Amino acid sequence: MARKKIIAGNWKMNMTPTEAVELVNTLKPLVVNEDVDVVFCVPAIDIIPVMEAAKGTNIFVGAENMYYEDKGAYTGEISPAMLVDAGVKYVVIGHSERREYFAESDETVNKKVLKAFEYGMTPIVCCGESLTQREQGITIDWIRQQIKIAFLNVPADKAAEAVIAYEPIWAIGTGKVATTEQAQEVCGAIRACIAEIYDEATAEAIRIQYGGSVSAGSAPELFAQPDIDGGLVGGASLKPDFGKIVCYNK
Ligand code: G3H
Repeated sequence: MARKKIIAGNWKMNMTPTEAVELVNTLKPLVVNEDVDVVFCVPAIDIIPVMEAAKGTNIFVGAENMYYEDKGAYTGEISPAMLVDAGVKYVVIGHSERREYFAESDETVNKKVLKAFEYGMTPIVCCGESLTQREQGITIDWIRQQIKIAFLNVPADKAAEAVIAYEPIWAIGTGKVATTEQAQEVCGAIRACIAEIYDEATAEAIRIQYGGSVSAGSAPELFAQPDIDGGLVGGASLKPDFGKIVCYNK
């Protein structure tokens, strides 16, 4: 069965609750595409107002992060139960900005992935290489390692439901989108890695996004690649252009 595309906006640390509701109201008529699962991954404080504003639409609301413990003395963190109670379906795990600025590691990513599944959420598991790693020719090795650790102890039936976002760090927020060939090569290697860890059926089912300066102009060609099942979109998800990205095939 063909995989359904999934296009997610990652708002990062943008949008007050008031601005968030305005943005949802602007975007909701623009992001209607029955061929695509549409997700708005928003700051924790925006989740409930965005959920309200998106009620009755095709928009899923996602979180940008969560902690891997159930509850307790972890000041400032958001628990999986809090997200589920608010109606969150998707959660971004291990974005490169979390790894760079908040010391997240492959090991904490794995703990969060396991916890998201335990609570019935779908993790959007991020991976990606730096420019130095690409220039050193170790991109595929690096990504394979990130994937293998992220999915440690995740059973095949759960892995099949996961979303992986391949985001080359050098393409994030730089306006320098990876070429279609570069993006397809790595997304194909990720699928092959999943087939190695699990089996062909799991690899065929899992959805793999590309992220990094995706725009309305680059989306159609990127999303037409055999191993690219949509995108994780930063900057452009805050603008009406996100509607064009979601409707890339119209
Ligand atoms: O999560 C989204 C990515 O970091 C991409 O951000 O589209 O602004 O480059 P960007």
